[in-house]
Amino acid sequence: MPSGSDLYREQIIDHYKRPRNYGELADPTFTHVGENPVCGDEITIDVKLDGETIEDVRFRGDGCAISQAAASLLTSELPGVTLSELYEMDRDTVVDLLGVDISPMRMKCAVLAEKVAQDGAKIYEGELDVDATTTE
Ligand code: FES
Repeated sequence: MPSGSDLYREQIIDHYKRPRNYGELADPTFTHVGENPVCGDEITIDVKLDGETIEDVRFRGDGCAISQAAASLLTSELPGVTLSELYEMDRDTVVDLLGVDISPMRMKCAVLAEKVAQDGAKIYEGELDVDATTTE
């Protein structure tokens, strides 16, 4: 019988191989692309807003199992979330979704999608310069 952490590892592999919410939205409110500067992997996120609330979301990109599984898990949580709630999400939010300990080396992989979604929303709201976005 698999242990708890084995189940989470299986979940990560499942989301990596069969990512949920992968693709594009026809009519996004905003789109943002960001990369992990350490490895060059990229994630693009499309978000459709209904007022302040995320109505729909899609992502695409290439990366390691952690970054892609985190994007799949995070985008599954986002519909119904307000922009304020999105900004309150932090690395613990993603680590909880992944369910495994993330080494400092892999933390940028884990939070890539979350950072891209947050930066995209801040640019949309005029609170962040496009040039200021980086995952550093
Ligand atoms: Fe590139 Fe993880 S190694 S995002």
